[in-house]
Amino acid sequence: MGFAEELEAELEEQFNSNEQIAKWFTKHREFDQLMTYYRCAMMEIETKLNVLNAEFSLEYDRNPFEQIESRLKKPISIIEKMRRKGFPITIEALEKEIFDVAGIRVVCSFKEDIYKLADLLINQDDIILVMRKDYIMNPKPNGYRSLHLILDVPIFISEGKKHMKVEVQFRTIAMDFWASLDHKLKYKKEVKNADEIAIRLKACADSLALMDTEMQNIRHEIDNEM
Ligand code: GTP
Ligand code: MG
Repeated sequence: MGFAEELEAELEEQFNSNEQIAKWFTKHREFDQLMTYYRCAMMEIETKLNVLNAEFSLEYDRNPFEQIESRLKKPISIIEKMRRKGFPITIEALEKEIFDVAGIRVVCSFKEDIYKLADLLINQDDIILVMRKDYIMNPKPNGYRSLHLILDVPIFISEGKKHMKVEVQFRTIAMDFWASLDHKLKYKKEVKNADEIAIRLKACADSLALMDTEMQNIRHEIDNEM
């Protein structure tokens, strides 16, 4: 059994003994329905990003992002988060309080493309910006960098319009590379020299940030010469 499955089994065991969780599962159909709405909202944002990518490619002959990934938060992780934050385990609380059920990660080559894409998305008139956390301007103490947006996007279902929240994380390739290694450190139970590794990871984050800036400068110089 891999680590992820181990964790899931452990959480499941813990939750099975919980009355609230049982109640939660009696509302299963409602939950499924909500997850479907989140999936649709995710598709809306993905489409918007793909449209911008296509337009950029035509206009500037390059792609503003290299990769786009989306995921729905697993039920077990949703419940774990709601309990950690002390919310009641209900569909209503889930919809109101948890902003990252639908998550999209956009990986760009250059920092400036991150801000450009984010602005173009926010300025679309059906999108409402709920929250913006700029961990590029203000990196986390461990060195984590990314731009996080919580967006409210309408989906159109048979009963009408429904507003859903989607979390979008924008990163450069370098930031994404760093975050995946950091993630390994975070979720591995017993890492020898964890403190020392954290210091080295922080140093990597700082070097990568300098590199991102320098690569962008170089691109500008090349563009200006052409
Ligand atoms: P969560 O309860 O984790 O969702 O935190 P939050 O709601 O305060 O949001 P935050 O902006 O801190 O982070 C949201 C997401 O960003 C996480 O689920 C990760 O995907 C990513 N993230 C944030 N901090 C780190 C970090 O230090 N390392 C890595 N690898 N990812 C991070
Ligand atoms: Mg989160």
